[in-house]
Amino acid sequence: MRTDEDFLRELELLETFQQLGRITTNKATDAAEVTPKIATREERSTDSKPAVQAAKLAAVPIAIDPARGARIAAMDWAALRTETAACNACGLCKQRKQAVFGVGAETAAWLFIGEGPGESEDQQGEPFVGQAGKLLDAMLAAAGLQRGVEAYIANVVKCRPPGNRTPTLNEAAACAPLLDRQIDLIQPTLIVALGKTAVIRLTGSEASMASMRGKVHSYRSIPVIAMYHPSYLLRSPTEKLKAWEDMLFARSEMVKLALP
Ligand code: URA
Repeated sequence: MRTDEDFLRELELLETFQQLGRITTNKATDAAEVTPKIATREERSTDSKPAVQAAKLAAVPIAIDPARGARIAAMDWAALRTETAACNACGLCKQRKQAVFGVGAETAAWLFIGEGPGESEDQQGEPFVGQAGKLLDAMLAAAGLQRGVEAYIANVVKCRPPGNRTPTLNEAAACAPLLDRQIDLIQPTLIVALGKTAVIRLTGSEASMASMRGKVHSYRSIPVIAMYHPSYLLRSPTEKLKAWEDMLFARSEMVKLALP
C-alpha cells in the first residue's frame, strides 16, 4: 500500500512539505480513494507560461484546408507519422530540427497531452524528455503509470515553437488534424490535458486552470481532465501538491470508467 509520503517523495515534494509542516501523517492510502490530508493554498494564476496566454498571442491566419483534414482523418499510424514528419502546415516547421510525433502504446488507456516540444524534445524527437519530462515521469510513477506502457504522450503542436513560446491558436489549429487522428487511433479511456494550451485546445475554454481542474470535461466523447503543466510545477514547486490531487482525481475517474 502506498503512503502519502510515497507519493510526495516521487514528486520530490516530501522534504518541502515536511519543512512547511504540511504533512504530519504516515497514513496508508489508496490512490483511487484518497483525499489528501494536506492543507491547500489559495488558487492563483496557473498559466503554463508566465505572462503569456495562448489565446492572446498574435494570430497569423492559417487557411484551414478541409481536404487535408479529411486525408489525415483516414490515415493509419504509419501514414500519420510520415505526414507529421514532413508537415509544413504552419511556420513552426521552419525552425524545427524534427517534428515530435508522440510516444506510447498505440492502445493506451491514458493519453497525456502537453503543449509542444522544447529544445530537448526537438533534438531527441520524443515528447517530455527534458526537465518537465522528468517531472511528468515522476507524476506518472506516482499514479503507477509508466511512459510508453499504460500512457501515450503527445503534444498540441508537433514542432518546437521558437524560444519555447506558447503556440498560437492558429498553430494549434494547423496541428489539430494530426492530434485528432492520434486520439481517434488510440481511443484512450481518459485524456489528461497538461496546462492551459492543451486545455484550450481540447475544451475550447480559456477559463483559469484553477477552475478547470477537478472536473471531467469531454473531447470527441472522451473524458478529459485538466492538470497543471509540469513546467509550471517546476516554477512553482509547492503547487505540485495540486498535481498530485489531480492525479488522484484522474485515477479515481479511470477506475470508474474502467468498470464494466
Ligand atoms: N512541454 C510540453 O508541453 N511538451 C513537451 O514535449 C515538452 C515540454
